[in-house]
Amino acid sequence: MTQLNAGIIGMGHSYPEGILTNADLERMVETSDEWITSRTGIKQRHKAADNEYTSQFGTAAAKQAIERAGLKPEDIEIIVCATTTPDQIMPSTGALIQAQLGAVNAAGMDVFAACSGFLYGITMVESMIRTGAIKYALVIGAEVLTKYVDYTDRGTCVIFGDGAGAAVLGPVESGKGILATKIKSDGRYEEQLYAPGGGTKLGTSHKTIDEGQHFFKMKGNELFKVAVRSMADISAEMLEKAGLTVDDIDLVVPHQANQRITDAVASRLGVSEEKVYSNIALLGNTSSASIPIAMDECIQSGRIKEGSKVLLTAFGGGVTWGATVLQF
Ligand code: UT7
Repeated sequence: MTQLNAGIIGMGHSYPEGILTNADLERMVETSDEWITSRTGIKQRHKAADNEYTSQFGTAAAKQAIERAGLKPEDIEIIVCATTTPDQIMPSTGALIQAQLGAVNAAGMDVFAACSGFLYGITMVESMIRTGAIKYALVIGAEVLTKYVDYTDRGTCVIFGDGAGAAVLGPVESGKGILATKIKSDGRYEEQLYAPGGGTKLGTSHKTIDEGQHFFKMKGNELFKVAVRSMADISAEMLEKAGLTVDDIDLVVPHQANQRITDAVASRLGVSEEKVYSNIALLGNTSSASIPIAMDECIQSGRIKEGSKVLLTAFGGGVTWGATVLQF
């Protein structure tokens, strides 16, 4: 029997129409367009309206991905929704998306791995497809981060935006698809990026709400250094595992955390700027959605095409990180 690999066979993305510009933020908190642009590369981010929520964007992205893969929702066997901003605590956003899609033969679930969630999802389903346990899986990164952001905290509110990206994975011929993938976490760094309220530890009370415990809290500066080192190291490890060097790679699609983080990772890896994709100026940091949105933009514009070798890498709260090497 021919050995199959797991590969991405269709992608899609979606984000809210609402836009929050740096000029809008200047009116909300003590900041400036100059500071945000020079420190993060972000000019605007999309922001969901009060009546919009995560599964809607995940479903819209997933519909495109399924259609572009030439499949029907019934063909999907596993739906992994990577999100840190679920519609609600139960049921999972993956199950809600399953219902919205009519993917009646799938098991829907969520993976909580913050900005690395999409790479966690594809790493989880990769071996299921390669071993033949399942044929088609849907991996979605979907976030409405702006509903977890404290708009009085200038250290976090300027960064995050909303959106979703989705990929259908299925069997592809040997030598193509996912060539190497790895995910890691280190929970000892919990307090570098966290939202402590609303769970079983602090619960939900007037006190936790008044204290803003449900909002994201971030030690951005400390996270910055760990993010650069972790993404560069795991990328080099996965390139070696795939038997490739950076020179073989056509495009690097990193998690869009901060333009300065992307530049530092590229420089550590020795990849030239033209080979590194960035859309952070227009979308901000959309956590688990940033890699699949960016990849789909590259596929639609022709920057990723048949034969392209692509490196993905992410880092996020947990802390979590990962890297994947793919050939299209
Ligand atoms: O998505 C994955 C997880 N997240 C990340 O990887 C994010 C990683 N971190 C970052 O992107 C950056 O650390 C930030 C963009 C969050 C902050 O940039 P920074 O260059 O690390 O700034 P900083 O926190 O060291 O703060 C420098 C100064 C401080 O003022 P003082 O103490 O020097 O007077 C801050 O109070 O900048 C101030 N500051 C701001 N000023 C204007 C912080 N945020 C703002 C702001 N506008 N929005």
